[in-house]
Amino acid sequence: MLRAPLLAAARSKRMRALIEAVPATRSVVRRFVSGSTTADAVRAARELAADGRSITIDHLGEDTTDATQAAGTVRAYEELLSALADQGLAAGADVSVKLSAVGQFLPGDGEGVALENARKICAAAEAVGATVTLDMEDHTTTDSTLQILRELRGEYPWVGAVLQAYLKRTEQDCRELSGPGSRVRLCKGAYAEPEEVAFQDKAEVDKSYVRCLRVLMAGEGYPMVASHDPRMIAIARRLAADNGRKPGDHEFQMLYGIRPEEQKKLAAEGRTMRVYVPCGDEWYGYFMRRLAERPANLAFFLRGLITR
Ligand code: FDA
Repeated sequence: MLRAPLLAAARSKRMRALIEAVPATRSVVRRFVSGSTTADAVRAARELAADGRSITIDHLGEDTTDATQAAGTVRAYEELLSALADQGLAAGADVSVKLSAVGQFLPGDGEGVALENARKICAAAEAVGATVTLDMEDHTTTDSTLQILRELRGEYPWVGAVLQAYLKRTEQDCRELSGPGSRVRLCKGAYAEPEEVAFQDKAEVDKSYVRCLRVLMAGEGYPMVASHDPRMIAIARRLAADNGRKPGDHEFQMLYGIRPEEQKKLAAEGRTMRVYVPCGDEWYGYFMRRLAERPANLAFFLRGLITR
């Protein structure tokens, strides 16, 4: 019931100003965000590596309409990749990039700017043995993001993308992206979407997730199972086994701060368990989507404000 208003608030400048102004918010945010600086992200990567977990780091930011800010995001990724390399943590690492943070919404040729900026991040990742995955934002950006993915894969075939099971188109997108070399991170979807394009009922979203998993696991690509849902994880494991897959040809992914014990358990079994680690100051939209996913998180947030 609270999902829709929280997702609407995630896009409201007024709500953002209000929530960011409460000093106690930051300590609650820290449950989901590794910190503001590159050093914080590197520290989180080191801690996760200590018990066998891999990382994908997201330099937080989205929806920019400022070319200088988009260029700043590219520099932040370059700095992050170089810091990971200095600490011996870059090989096998991944960075997650929102195209709207690197220019997709700029007036004029936003898509061209986002492509060029994403190319620079891919070059920096390749130089240190890391990979890049394109996050998926709301449905108005799906075609543009998949077009940019196609362009990038011409030069960097290892670039991956997120697909969202709540979108009715996604099963078909999975078919198109299940070929050799393709890396698809399958998630349920975190934005407010209209019923013309997206399943609204949780059971329908789960069924779609399973249909998409079937396509990806039977395909020739590298499926990345991004979910905290124990049922989806169990089904993914079974489908992987049914398709003769081994731990090295697919992986599991969860968000920083969510179900860490389950993360450690999967890693201890020798499976690739990658944690999505957000860092930076632009945490507002990301944080609000986490609150919208789970009423208990909202209660935790409100309790945190009251008890401080
Ligand atoms: P579901 O929401 O059904 O939750 C299942 C269980 O997981 C819950 O009962 C609870 O135990 C736990 N859980 C889930 N969310 C929680 C939370 N916020 N706090 C605490 N516990 C929680 N979305 C998108 O639209 N575009 C994207 O690019 C990405 N990228 C992405 C990367 C990775 C690595 C992950 C794991 C997820 C994303 N997402 C995303 C978010 C995704 O779409 C989805 O909103 C969340 O993962 C929650 O869905 P679950 O599959 O976990 O199941």
